[in-house]
Amino acid sequence: MLKKRIGILTSGGDCPGLNAVIRGVVRAADKLNWEVIGFVDGFEGLLAPGDYRILDRHTTATIMSQGGTILGTTNKGHFVSKVGKGDKTAVAPETVENAREILGKLRVEGLILVGGDGSLTTGLQLFEAGFPIIGVPKTIDNDLEATAMTFGFDSAVACVVDALDRLQTTGSSHKRIMVLEVMGRHAGWIALYGGLAGGANAILLPEIPFTYEKLANYIRQRDRDGYFSSMVVVAEGATTAGGTEVVKAGGNGGEYKLGGIGEIVSHELATRTGKETRHCVLGHLQRGGAPTTLDRLLGTRFGVGAVDLIRQGRFGQMVSYQNYQVLGVPIAEAVNKLKRVTPDNQVVQTARAVDVCFGD
Ligand code: F6P
Repeated sequence: MLKKRIGILTSGGDCPGLNAVIRGVVRAADKLNWEVIGFVDGFEGLLAPGDYRILDRHTTATIMSQGGTILGTTNKGHFVSKVGKGDKTAVAPETVENAREILGKLRVEGLILVGGDGSLTTGLQLFEAGFPIIGVPKTIDNDLEATAMTFGFDSAVACVVDALDRLQTTGSSHKRIMVLEVMGRHAGWIALYGGLAGGANAILLPEIPFTYEKLANYIRQRDRDGYFSSMVVVAEGATTAGGTEVVKAGGNGGEYKLGGIGEIVSHELATRTGKETRHCVLGHLQRGGAPTTLDRLLGTRFGVGAVDLIRQGRFGQMVSYQNYQVLGVPIAEAVNKLKRVTPDNQVVQTARAVDVCFGD
């Protein structure tokens, strides 16, 4: 008798913890005597003739500590459902039918999609077209309203903290302003958590528009107080009051790319304070490397939770972390709802209490 078979794919930008999800899925499915196949390069693996590999406990035995995804991923291609500044676009009907045929041929009875807001939007479209989709939310940005936390975030924050520890020693030796640009297009969680934990003096977020004058005044005051070096963390999506985001490129068929605000902040501060400044763009270092303990745990719990949703036949749902529990919530209620930092957020208030400047 043929074993029941489920599929998994990872889609969108990668992040540490994806392999923990894959391993968790394979182990939980194995307990149920189900077979798992992994589609390669996100949804693209669903296109004819189907690009997949059989996943079992042996092939996934040692992957949990590895960053990235053993299945590959992409944030462009035939299944993109968000372009530019997050505008929705529909997947072509022939692409949907092509994927349906492949899933049918391969006897896939449940498809676990690990992805961020854009990929989950594609997943919802496929679910509405009759595909047995289960979602697993993923993003280092931690900006999905439907889950209290996504795996990958803690690893990204750890990377920011490590970078600040290093910038602090060189910055203070030279009495410089050190500006660190971090990821976060629409939400500044990485900048806020990483900046606070890494001892940044100023944190600039997409949600709190800043002025160069307030920032420069704060640094001048630090100088008068005898603190000759300062660290500024700026999220890539941060803007000045009334200003716009610094766009690096128009994207590659997917969402637009940001980048460059760190260099501008560095230049403005040098001009206004007369101090030496240096900037550093942390970029994809935040997305690479081994996942932290927390991300391994959350990834494993999400993987196991996703298999359980399939077992219960709760298609169209995704796993979500709430009050320390992994639950299922409808994907339809989860997509297009960004969780952004609010000015009254307790972590923002804590940062202000320890004299972090937000430039506002
Ligand atoms: O959405 C996650 C994210 O890490 C953003 O913070 C960042 O702007 C983007 O991905 C970068 O994506 P790419 O892989 O296309 O460079």
